[in-house]
Amino acid sequence: MNVLLIGSGGREHALALALRASPLLGELHAAPGNPGIAQVARLAALDAADHAAVIAFCKAHDIGLVVVGPEAPLVAGLTDDLAAAGVPVFGPSKIAAQLEGSKGYTKDLCRDCAIPTADYERFRDASAAKAYARGRGAPIVVKADGLAAGKGVVVAQTLAEAEAAIDMMFGGAFGAAGAEVVVEDVLEGEEASFFALCDGERAIPFASAQDHKRVGEGDTGPNTGGMGAYSPAPVMSEEIVARVMREIVEPAIAGMKARGAPYRGVLFVGLMIGAQGPKLIEFNARFGDPETQVMLPRLDVDLLPLLLASAKGDLRGAQVRLKPQAALTVVYAAKGYPDAPEKGGVIGNLAAAAAQPGVVVTHAGTKREGEALVAHGGRVLNVTALGEDVADAQAKAYAALGLIEFPGGFYRRDIGWRAIARK
Ligand code: AMP
Ligand code: GLY
Repeated sequence: MNVLLIGSGGREHALALALRASPLLGELHAAPGNPGIAQVARLAALDAADHAAVIAFCKAHDIGLVVVGPEAPLVAGLTDDLAAAGVPVFGPSKIAAQLEGSKGYTKDLCRDCAIPTADYERFRDASAAKAYARGRGAPIVVKADGLAAGKGVVVAQTLAEAEAAIDMMFGGAFGAAGAEVVVEDVLEGEEASFFALCDGERAIPFASAQDHKRVGEGDTGPNTGGMGAYSPAPVMSEEIVARVMREIVEPAIAGMKARGAPYRGVLFVGLMIGAQGPKLIEFNARFGDPETQVMLPRLDVDLLPLLLASAKGDLRGAQVRLKPQAALTVVYAAKGYPDAPEKGGVIGNLAAAAAQPGVVVTHAGTKREGEALVAHGGRVLNVTALGEDVADAQAKAYAALGLIEFPGGFYRRDIGWRAIARK
């Protein structure tokens, strides 16, 4: 079967490697891809926003499955147009992708389906939002309703901070994404990410992970897309996973079906695990980045039939099996990330790092310039290692990282600290 993969990050490189390993795979195409993905797929100069062009490409190349990596094409309805053209596609429809595209939509689903989450209200004007925040008291969380590239959440420690965030969002800092704002209570506990594959009717557990969102060591400084991750998340015990499936994932799948928006694809469940058990922070409608880079190396079954079964709406009998090992990934970012990443830094000696046993190097923001590989984005590379446990995976990942020459880059030296401190 020929597959078209949409996206260009480390997540998509990890997906490309897992798909490449499938005995069912024919040709693998990627749009737009990156220099790492180009080693295992043919890159197509396709604009994912041009749905007619994507459909024409699929027909011309006999594509049996489209795998959508990032959220933007999902929220834009690429899945709907491909499905209408008869092309199977892994990822939710435009309306189902509202689980990521609108925080208010998700909060209302939680309310209707009794999914545990922070108490909240939705607002379309600043004065009502501020009055509600004053009524609840600080600390309090202010969120832009729509997609804001991971920057649309302010956990305000004081009411003044909350009011400033409300003004900033209604003032247009996130454009239309901030036309509506959710104000919600702060959840206490330990964060974890959980992923389930869904077919519109049912969901099966995929894997858990924890990422490090802050740019600085000790989880300090501004938020990023993620500076590293590991899988499994130690806090996601079998009992917690069972509760997440029963109390959050299954009611959400049933609720979406009842709303006429059956959810297919992967459901990314952002959780706070506190004294009363798991509560939902947010859903995303796609795999995580860099969580995918640590989950897929642990997968002990063929990924392609799982994604196809989800796309075709029938996961009955499908099974996810994971290796007992842990995986850890470290992001090698360009200096200045996340505010102003430097472009053009030259990268060397990747082959030596990738040759280490149990190590996989995936590309995110890289570009070929003649013979050279250079930085072309904030998060540039991921170095992932499999190990007996998180500490072993961490040692292997950092040993491989040390071999890479990238003077224009930096990475955190403490990825995995929480999991290791637990032991
Ligand atoms: P989100 O974009 O929804 O993932 O939010 C970004 C980050 O804000 C999350 O990873 C949490 O660390 C934090 N956050 C969001 N909502 C809450 C909440 N209700 N309580 C505590 N922290 C939160
Ligand atoms: N690493 C968080 C995300 O993919 O949204």
